[in-house]
Amino acid sequence: MSQQPAANQPNDITATTAKDKLMNTDDSKPTTPETQASTAGRGDPQDRGGGGPLPAPRGATTRGRLLPGYGHSMPSPMECPCDIDAAVRELGNGPLTITEAQQLFVPDSGYLDTATYGLLSYPTIMAISKGLMDWASGKATPKGHHLEVTEARGTFGRLVQVPASHVAVRATTAEFVAVIADAVPEGTTVLISEKEFTSAWGPFSVRCEQGRYRVRFVPLDRLADEMTDDVSLVVVSAAQSLDGAVADLNAIEDAAKEHGAWTMIDATQSIGWQPLNANHYTFLICHSYKFLGVPRGATFMAISPDMARELPAIGANWYSGEDIWNSLYGPSLILASDARRHDASPAWLSWLGAVPALKLIEQVGVEAINRHDVGLANAFREGMRIPIPRVASPIVSVRGIPDAEQRLDGQGLRASVRGDGVRLAFHLYNDQEDVQKALRALGSRRA
Ligand SMILES: Cc1ncc(COP(=O)(O)O)c(C=O)c1O
Repeated sequence: MSQQPAANQPNDITATTAKDKLMNTDDSKPTTPETQASTAGRGDPQDRGGGGPLPAPRGATTRGRLLPGYGHSMPSPMECPCDIDAAVRELGNGPLTITEAQQLFVPDSGYLDTATYGLLSYPTIMAISKGLMDWASGKATPKGHHLEVTEARGTFGRLVQVPASHVAVRATTAEFVAVIADAVPEGTTVLISEKEFTSAWGPFSVRCEQGRYRVRFVPLDRLADEMTDDVSLVVVSAAQSLDGAVADLNAIEDAAKEHGAWTMIDATQSIGWQPLNANHYTFLICHSYKFLGVPRGATFMAISPDMARELPAIGANWYSGEDIWNSLYGPSLILASDARRHDASPAWLSWLGAVPALKLIEQVGVEAINRHDVGLANAFREGMRIPIPRVASPIVSVRGIPDAEQRLDGQGLRASVRGDGVRLAFHLYNDQEDVQKALRALGSRRA
């Protein structure tokens, strides 16, 4: 995807106009005394002065009742303060530059913790707000939410280069891993990298304790070499949660093919910055609340329809039926013929925000985000004299500075302690200023 919008094309929007659209700056609506009271003192969306409620969208219609004890008024259910449909239509499918995309976020300065959770963009916040108002007023419908899930499924599929029929949806990673763990052939071995995030290996270890098969943990960089004929499945994160180390997926894929093993890739710390093609792996799972910026609770698994039919659908439910709306009651259930047979019914609030979040990533383009994120991480590594890894990652672990987290915190920077290091993650909404602040906080002479 080209990163620069072509001049004069319909979607060639500037950052300011994009945000104005999202803010629904219709000042023509009459204001009431309540409106004035409720908006007084609220910051401009650009105001990053931390804490407090979200900045009210300019022009928000706040003719509703004042909520006792909350100090702000609730918009009338019939008058949602935002026009997300129009905003998303305006954003369309055209490319966005990094700078334009950055205008759609309101981070406190120095948020360097996307490996814990990604920030929500305005389009996402507004989609959820509108959905809440629809829910509050009884306008929301399960069929409407299903359309959102369908669109998110297709968009995620495009991000990992598979059709929507290859994508199943659930709430968390471990739920999908449990489906796979149930299908591993008895008496075989599951090979797992040793510092894997627990959701990716916990279900295998439970089956191992039941005596169904063996689990063997090996160092990340030994996975391909440790493959043997008894291995039926190899499990690894594309980028490690602990320290951002990136797996050698080509070598792992080749070794798995040679030994006839399945591959399960946890791409939770990857999709959004790392270009991956799910066609290469038996299972690719991604909980989308980190580098994709989706509200927690929307997880995808890419799996071919053939493989989907081979796995027992142990979580079968109405939403995994071929005809969802005729699968509500027993006694018969015909499961979907594709990946959807492994769906769980969606937690609506998460999926409300999924479509705009995924589209934003798609519009900026994973390759451009990769360059941006990795560029910042490498600038930080250079400043800290941390060797640049052979395969680049936007997640950096700083070791050997015992009070690193407090030092970062003292400068208003957010990172997280993992293992014996402090983990910093650079993403779309970060910039060189964040890098310099982090270097100063950690005492680098190069800041
Ligand atoms: C690699 C990885 N996988 C999965 C998860 C989340 O797991 P779950 O969706 O089961 O909560 C995380 C959270 O940090 C993670 O880092």
